[in-house]
Amino acid sequence: MNVIHVSAECYPVAKVGGLGDVVGSLPKYQQQAGVSAKVVMPFYDNKFTAAHKFESVYESELVLGKDTFSFRILKLKKNILEIEVLFVDIPGLLFKDYVYSEDDTARFTAFQIAVMDWMLTLKTKPSIIHCHDHHTGLIPFMAQECFKYQALNQIPVILTIHNAQYQGWFSHDKVHYLPAFDINHIGLLDWDGVINPLAAGIKCAWRVTTVSPSYMKELQQVANGLESLLSHENQKCIGILNGIDAEVWNPETDEFIAKNYSTKNIQTGKTANKKWLCKEFGFSASKPLFAFIGRLVYEKGADLLPEVLDKVLSEKKCSVLILGSGNPEVEKDLKNLQKKHIGVYNTFIGYDEKLSHLIYAGADFLLMPSRVEPCGLNQLYSLRYGTIPLVRSIGGLKDTVMDVEDGGFGFSHQESSAEDILQTLNRAIAFYKDQPAFKKTRKHIMGIDHSWNVSAQKYIDLYNSIKPAKNE
Ligand code: ADP
Ligand code: GLC
Repeated sequence: MNVIHVSAECYPVAKVGGLGDVVGSLPKYQQQAGVSAKVVMPFYDNKFTAAHKFESVYESELVLGKDTFSFRILKLKKNILEIEVLFVDIPGLLFKDYVYSEDDTARFTAFQIAVMDWMLTLKTKPSIIHCHDHHTGLIPFMAQECFKYQALNQIPVILTIHNAQYQGWFSHDKVHYLPAFDINHIGLLDWDGVINPLAAGIKCAWRVTTVSPSYMKELQQVANGLESLLSHENQKCIGILNGIDAEVWNPETDEFIAKNYSTKNIQTGKTANKKWLCKEFGFSASKPLFAFIGRLVYEKGADLLPEVLDKVLSEKKCSVLILGSGNPEVEKDLKNLQKKHIGVYNTFIGYDEKLSHLIYAGADFLLMPSRVEPCGLNQLYSLRYGTIPLVRSIGGLKDTVMDVEDGGFGFSHQESSAEDILQTLNRAIAFYKDQPAFKKTRKHIMGIDHSWNVSAQKYIDLYNSIKPAKNE
């Protein structure tokens, strides 16, 4: 079996959030399980592409509406990645110093056309095309409907929804971007009067997965307008919990952190990393340290943090560190709190991979008050690094964090409200005072196996459950 993953992100080449982590690690674990798995992604103008040399394996032209673009499929001259990654280079369109922006419709439609054009030319066709999120949601439609891709229409296409909030909507006046198809089937592209790539992907993919079982169930109730579609397509949908790359995220070997540790020296390891953070951000190491890492957006409940933190920090019983960026208003509100809570609160507004590792290693607790969380990787990293998660019980958070009061190892709350978050924070502060229980829990969570071993196999089982493609 040979699988091609198609994605906008793949760590360490380009990562905006968890999608990058998943596409950078799932194929690696699939390889280890004996499946050939490659990734195809855009060639961006970023640190990774600047630092490495590439060679072309295919060159052609693609048509996007009235425009024609030259494109190349590149690979690394010397593969330093653990998986094979192919890059779609479309100068002037994809080669930008960002992953997502305003011009995504043209960029990602062209990306998908290039991927399909290239796959048509492959002597050995993939046995599975695995698409990720709306940026690749037109591929299931194109494989099934576009005349020029008929030779690919027997290859099963899987679509994984990492986040249904974003659907890639564009208006019908851009439908000519797509290669010719039977216009009577235009309804497959449409949802609510606009072209909706995620909806088209859900309709046309052979199987649809989401990144946790709970999120799959929730999507039938709340899916940013796609509830009825997902209920209707229920038979081909399945939730598979994300795993983590246990080699990249390993406190024993992590090169980003101040001191490596395992369950054997957890106390000295966590203390050294906490000290590093406290020194860097001006905190006293004696108080419990809470952290938030992530996109500062409504979905993550970040807008609730300023009110909650202002209240909890006034009592000076804990310290809080924020790493993230996103909504400018939330960024401003979070930064403004700094003047009022010197010595117990700090922020790093921006993106910093190394700092994120140091925080998972050095914090005592991680905050995830998400309104929507398809899976969430932060809580899985935090468990691996012995940092106790505080989560809203939703999506993947519900599937991975059990409250201490229910015999579990974290703290969870039901509502997305400042009051509930505050109450949970206070429960955690009280728990920290019981050091034997705190240390026991910390040790326990480090031992939970969330590596991809189990879930990578679930994807393989899913592929195998589909009737074999004709060309296999
Ligand atoms: P999402 O993909 O919705 O943002 P996930 O929990 O799946 O959420 O994954 C987020 C990933 O991005 C994690 O690897 C997390 O450590 C990382 N991350 C988020 N914000 C930042 C940041 N500001 N700096 C460094 N890493 C970040
Ligand atoms: C999305 C989701 C997040 C998930 C990630 C990886 O960005 O918001 O919950 O963990 O994708 O699947």
